[in-house]
Amino acid sequence: MINKNEYIERREKIYNTIDNNSVVILYAGASVKKSADESYPFEVNRNFYYLTGICEENSVFVAYKQHGVATEFLFIPEQNENIEKWVGKRLSVDDAREISGIDNVVTLNQFDSELDLILSRKRTGIEELDTLYLDLEPENLLDGFKTTKDVGQALILNYPWLKLKDIYKTIILKRMVKSSAEIVELKEAINKTNIGLKNILKKIRPGLYEYQLSSLFYYSIQDYDFSELSFPTICASGINATTLHYPNPKSFINDNDLVLFDLGARNNFYCADISRTYPASGKFTEKQKQVYEIVLKCNKEIIKAVRPGVTLKELNNLATEILAKGLMEIGIIHNETEIRNYYFHSVSHHLGLDTHDPSDRDLPLVPGNVITDEPGLYIKELGIGIRIEDDILVTEDGSYNLSNSIIKEVDDIEKALKFR
Ligand code: GLY
Ligand code: MN
Ligand code: MN
Repeated sequence: MINKNEYIERREKIYNTIDNNSVVILYAGASVKKSADESYPFEVNRNFYYLTGICEENSVFVAYKQHGVATEFLFIPEQNENIEKWVGKRLSVDDAREISGIDNVVTLNQFDSELDLILSRKRTGIEELDTLYLDLEPENLLDGFKTTKDVGQALILNYPWLKLKDIYKTIILKRMVKSSAEIVELKEAINKTNIGLKNILKKIRPGLYEYQLSSLFYYSIQDYDFSELSFPTICASGINATTLHYPNPKSFINDNDLVLFDLGARNNFYCADISRTYPASGKFTEKQKQVYEIVLKCNKEIIKAVRPGVTLKELNNLATEILAKGLMEIGIIHNETEIRNYYFHSVSHHLGLDTHDPSDRDLPLVPGNVITDEPGLYIKELGIGIRIEDDILVTEDGSYNLSNSIIKEVDDIEKALKFR
């Protein structure tokens, strides 16, 4: 778990970058309606969570900065016996204080009046308040319909002396650089993922259906320690693996199929994102092995290339070059441009509280960034789709593979599959 002092430090860093005489409002968000009276499970806004550690629907964080000093408030839903009979215990004010390190925690029924005191500048000492920061990420839905931008525009109408500024990028630039505590969270997510993959290696065989293995993964991470998935598990056999985000794992696994797994466990919201490709029969065919070795070589070369100063674009150019050279050597393509028919995604994205962690992809890497390394080749005419994905920490002098304990060599995979 991230300690409250770290949340305090994270907020301090944000206060150091925002204007004086400003107020920041961040919303936890609400669950989105699914159908009839059912909602999708609540997913907290990650920027709100990053700065508070609070995962409570409809909560709101407010801070105003004057003379370089921030005054903070956290608004959480009231504890209510009747509601709790249906949905279970709600976070108490004391717990919220303890998790977030915010002293001033109050219930949501005071939100409108407190916010009005601040924005109308009626609180002593805040007569100069002139800037309102919101997280204006366009997809930031507050209740399934209203965006933060809608809320911001309504507030500006009521308090026209405020100018609206976006705090989204300020926060995500901080999120891009992970602390040592965040690395511990990610490592634990990766360990849980490895437990699921080891169970898959024990059970995989022709004659199963894909969903039996994707549900085995889910069961494994829940059995180890109640864990969520980072994203819906991709389990794709044979030609299905040439669809990057193959959504419905319903096919029968045939004798000579490779099965591509792209999956991850989430640990306190920190997401692992790992891909491995295994032969259902226990042995790669010669052709499968040739293609697998190209992807594996690329995966390893990228790890070597990751270091401070490099951009994701440069990594992807290198990956494309290696994959093209490999496919030319085995006669599948005849010039480099044809690679785009067999490799059509990017080799890396940032990783953290989100699987595709928000980032500025043009920025050169710095120590503390965590990115994926996920080359793949998708050859429909051979029914082969292979992706090998690791999670890589950028260090002072290069990189460290956080998922180095998850086997990926042909020999190691075939050896593991002998013990089924
Ligand atoms: N699991 C999605 C990705 O690898 O980016
Ligand atoms: Mn993935
Ligand atoms: Mn990925």
